[in-house]
Amino acid sequence: MSHKRLLIPGPTESPAELLQQQSKWLIGHRGADYTELYVGIIDKLGKYFETQHNRTVLTSSGTIWMDMTARNLVKKKALAGVCGAFSKRMYQTIGDAGKEVDPLNVEWGKAHKPDDVLEALAQDDYDTVALVHNETSTGVRNPIEEIGRAIKKEYPDIMFVVDAVSSAGGDYLVPEKLNTDLMFTSTQKCFALPPGLSIAFYSDAAVARAKEVPGRGHYTDLMAIHNYYQKKQQNPTTPNVSLMFALSHQLDRMLAEGNQARYQRHNEMAKYTQKWASQKMEMFPEPGYESITVSTIANTLGKNIGDLNKELGKRNYQIANGYGDLKEKTFRIGHMGEWTLPEIKSLLWHIDDIWGE
Ligand SMILES: Cc1ncc(COP(=O)(O)O)c(C=O)c1O
Repeated sequence: MSHKRLLIPGPTESPAELLQQQSKWLIGHRGADYTELYVGIIDKLGKYFETQHNRTVLTSSGTIWMDMTARNLVKKKALAGVCGAFSKRMYQTIGDAGKEVDPLNVEWGKAHKPDDVLEALAQDDYDTVALVHNETSTGVRNPIEEIGRAIKKEYPDIMFVVDAVSSAGGDYLVPEKLNTDLMFTSTQKCFALPPGLSIAFYSDAAVARAKEVPGRGHYTDLMAIHNYYQKKQQNPTTPNVSLMFALSHQLDRMLAEGNQARYQRHNEMAKYTQKWASQKMEMFPEPGYESITVSTIANTLGKNIGDLNKELGKRNYQIANGYGDLKEKTFRIGHMGEWTLPEIKSLLWHIDDIWGE
């Protein structure tokens, strides 16, 4: 099979060094070797994210944490920000779990603002607020730190949940600075690993809340996951050990690069892409709220994005069309994980070449 450079917003290119970690001999997940591996991962996550919050790694994709939010944290009623396709999924998931939830809608391409969230919170008795940090469909980066501060100042007991699936490990995120009670991500995005693991950071207050919420499920029971780690430093069910090897190795690499340097590298790729896009078309997000891990570009020249991707495929590149209703109206370049500026320059050169510019 050909090797296409994945400049889509996940899964992104996983270096051979990480893929090879998965070919190690398996170990039992109830033995001392696994405990050492897993405790090491939890410690390294704490260092990279500069956090004292509890950490866990589940064998699942990131979406499970939308179900976990609904089943563990929403006691009576949640407010869910909807600014694109993935945040809409969170809103729907909370409703699907039989919990009350109101959407806080903003036009796609726009960001949530602290005052809008506070205004919505004043309307009803909410116990949970869920927002996406980096809306992968629109390429909007919500000002989550300002929003978290505003919420907790007035409503300290509200559970603040942030979907950081397409930003954690690329953007600079520290749970305590964001005031989150739950922040979650998946391995196939900025961690540049294969899909299959989700990573979550949760506060002690989240554990206390979960204790009070019935119907947490089995696989999705945060208390069970938390208590098992406290007692045994392992996972309650069989984890994907092979991916855990890869995650442990990648965390060493991420720590060696440094979280600020990683942020700068992502920012640099984003700024370059934004400048390139703005010279010919327009960025889709409102100015000042552009993601640093995925650039969503408004296709104001009416180019055929499907054809562009076919041509790029012949050159072993792949970018992403717009998501859902935004297909052909926008297109997306994922500059996350291990990509560097020279690779982005090369991709954009190829696009210009295909378009004859
Ligand atoms: C912002 C955001 N949230 C949630 C998801 C879903 O994550 P997963 O596919 O790991 O379940 C994605 C996937 O692209 C995403 O970008």
